[in-house]
Amino acid sequence: MPSDETSDLGAQVEAARSAAMSLITGTTSAAEVAKIGGELAGKKSALNTLRSGLGKIQDPEARKSAGQLINEASQQVDAALQQRIAEFLVLERASQVASESLDLTEFATPSRRGNSHIVTQAMERLEDVFIGLGFQIAEGPEVETDFYNFEALNMPRTHPARSEFDTMFIEPFSKDHEPNTVLLRTHTSPVQIRVMQTWEPPIYAVMPGRVFRRDTPDATHMPVFHQIEGLVVDRDITFAHLAGIIEAFTKAFFGNEFTSRLRPSFFPFTEPSAEFDIKRPNGDWIELGGCGMVHPNVLRAGGIDPDEFTGFAFGFGIDRMAKERHNVEDIREMYTNDLRFLRQFS
Ligand code: PHE
Repeated sequence: MPSDETSDLGAQVEAARSAAMSLITGTTSAAEVAKIGGELAGKKSALNTLRSGLGKIQDPEARKSAGQLINEASQQVDAALQQRIAEFLVLERASQVASESLDLTEFATPSRRGNSHIVTQAMERLEDVFIGLGFQIAEGPEVETDFYNFEALNMPRTHPARSEFDTMFIEPFSKDHEPNTVLLRTHTSPVQIRVMQTWEPPIYAVMPGRVFRRDTPDATHMPVFHQIEGLVVDRDITFAHLAGIIEAFTKAFFGNEFTSRLRPSFFPFTEPSAEFDIKRPNGDWIELGGCGMVHPNVLRAGGIDPDEFTGFAFGFGIDRMAKERHNVEDIREMYTNDLRFLRQFS
């Protein structure tokens, strides 16, 4: 039989429990629940005050059942706190997601779909054509050393291309042309050396990329432009193979009504060297790039024995090809990022 003492306590526990419950129900945020939870767990909370009064109950049975009553009430209060905080976390997460979400639908509408730049398009088509001819793609760094850009390519220290007027040096220009001098590559030819140093012949590679020269921009020049380099190193490679690849490439890339020719020229890294032109169906010749048989010194710099292997290389500018193909009048238009210009080529 519960004594009066206990039933009075029962009413107090119930009062403390329901006061705690209505506090919890009245909260409006997770932070508020946490604050109230802290207060309810504190020594001075109503339930804990009742708990510390348990010692005063003389009858052990009555003390035990009073303790159980208080524990049950505390457990219910704890459970209510947990549930309330979980509710707020779900709500807060939902509103965070709603406020941070991006509306991507505008990018999915066809009128807003982007397209790659005409130079990128040309580069990708070039890669496709050369992959079709059995070549692999390689890339090299845009920031190079004097060694790879000049020295290894058989360019004497007095070569005009090495002057401070053509090359953008990262380190102060040194008249001594230290091999480690750092610069922006002026052509993609240094990648020939890097490929020879890391691959074993037979090598059939094309190397597209960005190159840099100290040119003043005008309708046909930009200080930053793009080239694609080709390199073949194998046994018994002759000039006829070079001419054959240039012709096969011309037809595959420009169409069967185009043809190519080679004109004698000079490059320090090829011997003999040639300039190659393509003929439009209307009879006009367009100069495209340089080529030649890889100079024995260049093979040696790449760690290849010139008595065992021979090879050819070629290189040409991509920007001008894109310009020709799309009849762009001024090459600078391609780099001003005017969307009205760029969207014409999707
Ligand atoms: N690197 C030369 C240039 O930029 C082109 C070239 C590449 C010529 C390979 C011959 C062989 O003009």
